[in-house]
Amino acid sequence: MEHLNSKIFKIVASAAKEQGVRAFVIGGFVRDCFLKRPSKDIDIVVEGSGIALAELVAKKVGSKLSVFKNFGTAMLRYKENRESEWIELEFVGARKESYRRESRKPIVEDGTLEEDQQRRDFTINALAFSLQEEDFGALVDPFNGMEDLKNGLIRTPLDPDTTYSDDPLRMIRAIRFATQLGFTIVPESLESIRRNKERLSILSRERIAEELNKILMAAKPSIGFYLLEQTGLLEQFLPQISKLKGVETLEGKGHKDIFAHTLQVLDNICPNTDNLWLRWAALLHDIGKPSTKKYEPGTGWTFHSHDFIGGKMVPGVFKQLKMPLNEKMKYVQKIVQLHLRPIALAQEEVTDSAVRRLLFDAGDDVDDLMKLCEADITSKNDKLVQKHKRNFALVREKLIEVEAKDAIRNFQNPISGELIMQKYNIPPGREIGIIKEYVKEAILEGIIENNYEQAYALMEKKAAEMGL
Ligand code: CTP
Repeated sequence: MEHLNSKIFKIVASAAKEQGVRAFVIGGFVRDCFLKRPSKDIDIVVEGSGIALAELVAKKVGSKLSVFKNFGTAMLRYKENRESEWIELEFVGARKESYRRESRKPIVEDGTLEEDQQRRDFTINALAFSLQEEDFGALVDPFNGMEDLKNGLIRTPLDPDTTYSDDPLRMIRAIRFATQLGFTIVPESLESIRRNKERLSILSRERIAEELNKILMAAKPSIGFYLLEQTGLLEQFLPQISKLKGVETLEGKGHKDIFAHTLQVLDNICPNTDNLWLRWAALLHDIGKPSTKKYEPGTGWTFHSHDFIGGKMVPGVFKQLKMPLNEKMKYVQKIVQLHLRPIALAQEEVTDSAVRRLLFDAGDDVDDLMKLCEADITSKNDKLVQKHKRNFALVREKLIEVEAKDAIRNFQNPISGELIMQKYNIPPGREIGIIKEYVKEAILEGIIENNYEQAYALMEKKAAEMGL
């Protein structure tokens, strides 16, 4: 069996034989073998004590064991030789009750393999390889997981209502796997998710966020967000996104569906970035639109200041998912707040001072900001798209040119507060701010160059005006 050619499987097999128990490889590793996806986590299920088997294996390979008594699991790391990568093995006793990694209930390890398999989330995750000598590597598949794998179907081994109420996170996991693998959730499962959506409320927000991040990191996250919306899950933990849905029409004028637009922008940015937080920014870039929407007769639909309002909403979104309010959040907020700036630039004549101001405000994140703006072009009018793209290419050129000349990206005012205080012998006070701001503005406007000599001269001029 080529999937099990690592030595470790033989070691586990012989340890199980010594203890007189049956052991199997199960779950994601088996699924990913058939999908040809790399997988470094190996789950072993034992008809007996998972911890006891792990102890013997750890002794045989001489590695350290981490035992989680409450969960009835044990984990060890193994490396076949110096060149190979570390793999992680987790051992668990087969159980009659639902499999839940973080369940706090004591685990009763009295199940058979099949009982364990039927309490797992999906048929494709319930596949197992035998580690018994007589049929080493044989596939054990009582729920036709292999067929579902071939047909690209997400299906629960038991009645979906049972499987999902065992652990409601599985409703989002179903959608996450559908997104990552491009699989279809079978209709009765989808209906069950819709029916059980309220059960999500018992889950910790952190677990939801973890799944959401995996959806965002897929090649085409829109698949997941459409499913989350259709099943009614999205409005429970990201109402700001589900509110983007819908089109209003007045005097025969409609605006575009912001939900569909947002998901298109998100998909557009994926080939250009693996930065989770830039993907978050793409998802959130228009969340300020519903509350700023207005119909202005003669003009049509407007969303004034939606960039600014959207930025203000970002911490609330993070908080509600218990994501840390750290520099990542600030980055997302900044990108959302600035997302119209390059667009405004590209529409008018691109002046040096506007480019300098953008470089000043965006700093090192200017490249990410440009990626979002390019992804934000979702017009169906090809001529318009080409025009926008040309303008953005121009903005990019200008950014490089101005940065090379003026080095604004990580702007440091050539004139420090210290210097002003020393030179004019004054204590800290508003004068210092006024002078510094004056110098900064002059540099951004292009009145002086970004260097010490010219800045110093301007400081002297301003100070004289102020009577210092
Ligand atoms: N599992 C389950 N119910 C859950 C979580 C996990 O039944 N709520 C089972 C599944 O059999 C799954 C296995 O535990 O295959 C391992 O879970 P996990 O490591 O979370 O997922 P993987 O399937 O390995 O996939 P990935 O690594 O992509 O998360």
